[in-house]
Amino acid sequence: MSDSSFASSTPSASPTAASSVAWQALQQHADATRGLQLRQAFAEHPERFDALSEQAAGIFLDYSKNLVTEDTMRLLFSLARERGVEARRDAMFGGERINNTEDRAVLHAALRAPREVAGATVDGRPVGAEVHAVLDRLGQCAESIRSGAWTGYTGKAITDVVNIGIGGSYLGPKMVCQALRTFAHPRLSMHFVSNVDGHDLDALLTRVNPETTLFIIASKTFTTQETMMNAQSARSWFLQHGEEKDLAKHFVAVSTNTEAVTAFGIDPANMFGFWDWVGGRYSVWSAIGLPVAIAVGADGFREFLAGAHAMDEHFRAAPLERNLPAILALIGIWNRNFLGMSSISIAPYHQDLASLPGYLQQLEMESNGKHVDADGKPLTVATCPVIWGDTGTNGQHAYFQLLHQGTDVIPVDFIASLAAAHALPGHQEALLANCFAQSEALMRGKTEDEVRAELAGQNMSAERIAALAPHRTFPGNRPSTMLLLDALTPASLGALIALYEHKVFVQGVIWGVNSFDQWGVELGKVLAKTIMNELVAGPNTKAHDASTNGLIARARAALSQ
Ligand code: F6P
Repeated sequence: MSDSSFASSTPSASPTAASSVAWQALQQHADATRGLQLRQAFAEHPERFDALSEQAAGIFLDYSKNLVTEDTMRLLFSLARERGVEARRDAMFGGERINNTEDRAVLHAALRAPREVAGATVDGRPVGAEVHAVLDRLGQCAESIRSGAWTGYTGKAITDVVNIGIGGSYLGPKMVCQALRTFAHPRLSMHFVSNVDGHDLDALLTRVNPETTLFIIASKTFTTQETMMNAQSARSWFLQHGEEKDLAKHFVAVSTNTEAVTAFGIDPANMFGFWDWVGGRYSVWSAIGLPVAIAVGADGFREFLAGAHAMDEHFRAAPLERNLPAILALIGIWNRNFLGMSSISIAPYHQDLASLPGYLQQLEMESNGKHVDADGKPLTVATCPVIWGDTGTNGQHAYFQLLHQGTDVIPVDFIASLAAAHALPGHQEALLANCFAQSEALMRGKTEDEVRAELAGQNMSAERIAALAPHRTFPGNRPSTMLLLDALTPASLGALIALYEHKVFVQGVIWGVNSFDQWGVELGKVLAKTIMNELVAGPNTKAHDASTNGLIARARAALSQ
């Protein structure tokens, strides 16, 4: 790794976010607009919805229910410019090694560039041909499984596909397969095993037939403990039924590590590669998307890529003022850094997007959950908020109470599809009504006067009204953003994920962090190896703190019984 790669990590005009002119102007602006009332803002500016909404790549973004004015947005766009977002974006698309601590380019966007425009290069070497060669092989593999031409060791067609992987080698394919459930092949059941907890794999192995099951071992590094252990256990399970020579029909690998794949016993002919310039959490567009291609077909997978590419093109070309990823990122910066909000809730109003919050947790928190900038200097501004959530109407009956009346203000991203893929009457109307009502309720709230008037209309005693009114009052003025898709399709899902990826990128540039490394996951991995040795066979070293020593001793006693 060259020293110069570290030196070039923050090419913006201001050395830190906090020292930028725009940041300071935003701080003053935040103080001056602290009393902004959204109800009033909507009443006084009938054009607010039109002014603070945008559409691109099939996604409509309404950010008018955030605590911003057009002046706020102007200052935020200045911040993005001052922090060099546009230049950094061009550097990423241009294949520069912007992941400075790992000395790698960041080119997941190149995975979704169509063949005819695949012009990205790394170190001057075009990558498009290699990307499309893998994509073609992936498509052929997926189609042969779908058609039944790919058979198991007794000649039967595959019925169950088990993806063994974790983190980015799990969350993306699982979320996308679930989201595109209605486009999936009816014969094929997709399963995802990630947890080193044997209950995960064990529960599945009791349900699948070795004759008709295909395992995909998905790991960028092919060294991840959880994945390797599950892969070995799946292999042993298979060999209780089939023979070594049959493994090729039942095990394929997706990895960047050919050597380790071969050592595991998987024929390189059954391996689909990708590259070090694809981060794990950005890898669903690569061969890591094999389960998606199997589920929705090669054409469906290409539509998914095309949707993301449309968002890439928008992100590259649209001015920041009309740029969906930039807007979503800047709203997040405003809420996090100037209004002090430390988490954000993701509320998909679509059951098939149930895994989206979990997917975004990795995308956002593993990318931007950093305490030093890209040059290693301590940050003086807060970075990634906590990302959490669940499907909308389920959340309404669980934690939305806190969103409406809790002491913390938590912004919400509502995500809905206008069309449904089912014909059950009334459900879609009820779903959308709930979605829009929640964003309205968070924004409007209900004043104590309104509550009192309502209760008085119900002939309630003055004493009871006085007692109940505070409980039934909603502070309101709570921000939310609405993302609307026309329908949940491979293309719109691709665009949605790419939108969030670029949002994360823009925020990383503004905060000055490297969004593409994840050193914070290493320490626990190393300590786990030491403890594993002590649990399995090694001596009881008691080399840890008293708590960890005590826990290890209890586990050793239990495991040795
Ligand atoms: O531990 C974190 C991580 O490295 C993620 O970044 C990655 O997505 C996951 O582990 C899985 O890694 P691999 O695909 O190499 O098994």
